[in-house]
Amino acid sequence: MIKLSGVEKIFGDGENAVVALAPVDVEIEQGAFITIVGPSGCGKSTLLRLIAELDSVSGGTIELGTTNKKRPVGFVFQDAVLLPWKTVAENIRFPLDTSGVPRSISDPKVEILIDLISLNGFENALPKQLSGGMRQRAAIARALADDPPILLMDEPFSAVDLMTRETLNDELLKIWQQTGKTILLVTHSIEEAAYLGTRVMVMSARPGRLRKTFDVDIPMPRSEDTKRDQKYLDLVHELRTMMREQGH
Ligand SMILES: Nc1ncnc2c1ncn2[C@@H]1O[C@H](COP(=O)(O)OP(=O)(O)OP(=O)(O)O)[C@@H](O)[C@H]1O
Ligand SMILES: [Mg+2]
Repeated sequence: MIKLSGVEKIFGDGENAVVALAPVDVEIEQGAFITIVGPSGCGKSTLLRLIAELDSVSGGTIELGTTNKKRPVGFVFQDAVLLPWKTVAENIRFPLDTSGVPRSISDPKVEILIDLISLNGFENALPKQLSGGMRQRAAIARALADDPPILLMDEPFSAVDLMTRETLNDELLKIWQQTGKTILLVTHSIEEAAYLGTRVMVMSARPGRLRKTFDVDIPMPRSEDTKRDQKYLDLVHELRTMMREQGH
């Protein structure tokens, strides 16, 4: 369970202070798939970075549940940041290498991950030899490598074409169901938010705050049929209306 209590973020101080995040209170149950939408600059990336401890809070607390991991989160950025001189397998293995996991354990693990993200045959390819969608898959595998219970994804699919994106969405849902991770995914696509989420969080413009939360009562696994489901269509409509109201 992730629990945010009065989490605030202010950049700079005095006249230059920017309130990126007004106090946010939220509880996220283990195994949830949370999607986050909101206008540009409302603090979505900031929220993920705070949860990942890539940045520190200006107020409030973040609890990430009981875990013995030093950093219980995996992070997938908008642009897959793979090490260009390392192969796909080496990139995925990298977090395990840095934690000193021996090859006898990490190699089979990497093999399973390659399978999970369907990059078989590309183990020894360099990032530049991959398509954008393949790079993003490799980045997801790397984020999963040391088995963090929480996966944070900041607009992971915005740089890939629509067809690839839909494929990656379905693959991500499969991974989520197979691994039981708690996922927080930021997206600019309302359809993607409704399709993937068990809960959609809508944030409002500056100072960023949590405006509304929608529980998505659409069964898993989702499929093409979901996109014709009345509940899905109603949710997309409601989300779009809400985003329009705030001038998005
Ligand atoms: N390191 C920083 N220093 C100063 N201000 C920052 C910093 N990072 C973010 N901000 C400010 O905090 C606010 C929220 O930024 P953030 O990147 O979290 O927005 P976002 O919702 O992810 O936007 P987008 O949808 O465009 O990615 C913005 O006003 C931004 O200018
Ligand atoms: Mg952002």
